[in-house]
Amino acid sequence: MSHKTVRLKTHFLFWLYDRKGEKSGEMYNEIDLDKIDIHAEPPMEEPARQYYYMAKCREWVREFERKNGHRPCFFTQTFGCQMNARDSEKLTGILKKAGYAEADSEEADFVIYNTCTVRENANLKVYGRLGVLHGYKKKNPNMKIALCGCMMQEPSVVEKIKKSYGFVDLIFGTHNIFKFAELLWAALISERTVTDVWDGTEQVVEDLPLERKYSFKSGVNIMFGCNNFCSYCIVPYVRGRERSREPEDILREIKGLAADGVTEIMLLGQNVNSYGKTLKTPIRFAELLQRAEKIEGIERIRFMTSHPKDLSDELIQVMAESKKICRHLHLPLQSGSSRILKAMNRKYTKEQYLALAEKIRKAIPDIALTTDIIVGFPGETEEDFLETLKVVWTVRFESAFTFIYSKRTGTPAAAMEEQVPEDVVKDRFDRLLHEVQKIANERAQLLTGTKQMVLVEETNSRMTDYVTGRLSSNHVVHFPGDASLVGKIMQVSLDECRGFYFMGRATGASLSGLE
Ligand code: SAH
Ligand code: SF4
Ligand code: F3S
Repeated sequence: MSHKTVRLKTHFLFWLYDRKGEKSGEMYNEIDLDKIDIHAEPPMEEPARQYYYMAKCREWVREFERKNGHRPCFFTQTFGCQMNARDSEKLTGILKKAGYAEADSEEADFVIYNTCTVRENANLKVYGRLGVLHGYKKKNPNMKIALCGCMMQEPSVVEKIKKSYGFVDLIFGTHNIFKFAELLWAALISERTVTDVWDGTEQVVEDLPLERKYSFKSGVNIMFGCNNFCSYCIVPYVRGRERSREPEDILREIKGLAADGVTEIMLLGQNVNSYGKTLKTPIRFAELLQRAEKIEGIERIRFMTSHPKDLSDELIQVMAESKKICRHLHLPLQSGSSRILKAMNRKYTKEQYLALAEKIRKAIPDIALTTDIIVGFPGETEEDFLETLKVVWTVRFESAFTFIYSKRTGTPAAAMEEQVPEDVVKDRFDRLLHEVQKIANERAQLLTGTKQMVLVEETNSRMTDYVTGRLSSNHVVHFPGDASLVGKIMQVSLDECRGFYFMGRATGASLSGLE
């Protein structure tokens, strides 16, 4: 299947693009909305249509400012995974382009929740917070509330919101997020809830503005959707079929990011190992990595998530030989029982997973392996659970996210009999967590006393005069330093291990060229 990619057309660029922005790399952030005739008919092609609506919203924002004496402010909240977070950066980019100011709390004029539905508690959080928002809205009649993201792809959710949370102004899903400017405009001029949720899409719209959360690191979508249909998982239903972006578009984006001062990128997809297979000119993920690695200015490359069934020897080799790909691989196990893995539709056995983990550890001895594990999948017996523990003991993960199985309506697992009783699941979960943490601490201890390169991410919020950074392995270290170090790669001695993280001190200058 080939997918339609819609990117900025050259003729469109000529009339909108302010040439001053050429050096910034992200030229779409420089597009001049004032050159758009907002009284003309909206253009039909994307993304020109969205820029037209951004210009319309901006006019509305100016009017608001004239009336109220201040610009309207917005607040975005991400509830889900890295892909969800990246989407929120797109929402923020559009709101800022439209002239909104960023608020630091939900008491804002426009609040948008980018939701997640992977587990029930993600949904519950949203409903809880909506109650609070309602209170704010009663105090601020200008306030608009929007919901988007994975949860909105579920018809039952949209129904419930319309029935019980009628104060929500805008609802849209994952497939039409590129239309946000147009939907924002519709919500601004409407008294009623605007709802626009699509069942799917083949479109990948390029060149919309976005606002990065960090100046020095960035996620980069390489694919959308998922075709794996693990039997417990709702993602393929709410994110649609797998669609890869064209490698040229991805590399162009990374070059732009590098030109803008980004040193670390994280390539994002639900199953990056199957990247490129559905493109007209197919390309392998390992090949994309090699091409990304050549981009000057990018010092670190991460990616998320790798499905064990598709992880190639070529990828292991590329990682082993790379100077830029981080020494970290997130390889979700889900269960250590081959019987449960089969029921989960994961398409690998316990033995295959163990062999793969061993191969990776051998080829890349300093790799940090992390994982996801679900406890209490339907039919999971004590024996199955012990198998999972055995894999944990054998692979010795640097870290593991452990989840209690959550029944997602519409997935095959939801219809499976033999749901495991809550108390049994809770007991297994606690036992697993204990083992996982013990091993993670032991693994981290092995690094104590070594010197590692660290990308400084932020000043420490609790210890003044300290900064916090990440190793290539994704471990966290705190060490004395100030805001001037943020974004730099430093050599740090890991003096003391405190469980999952380290206390250290800088022992070397930052990488050349970053000073
Ligand atoms: N695409 C990634 C995972 C995305 S969801 C992959 O396949 O690895 C992130 C994690 O949430 C999954 O790895 C899984 O461990 C967990 N998860 C997904 N659905 C779940 C459910 N119904 N109940 C509990 N955990 C779930
Ligand atoms: Fe869900 Fe499986 Fe797809 Fe991951 S690979 S998103 S767990 S269906
Ligand atoms: Fe959640 Fe959607 Fe990500 S369901 S985990 S936000 S893809």
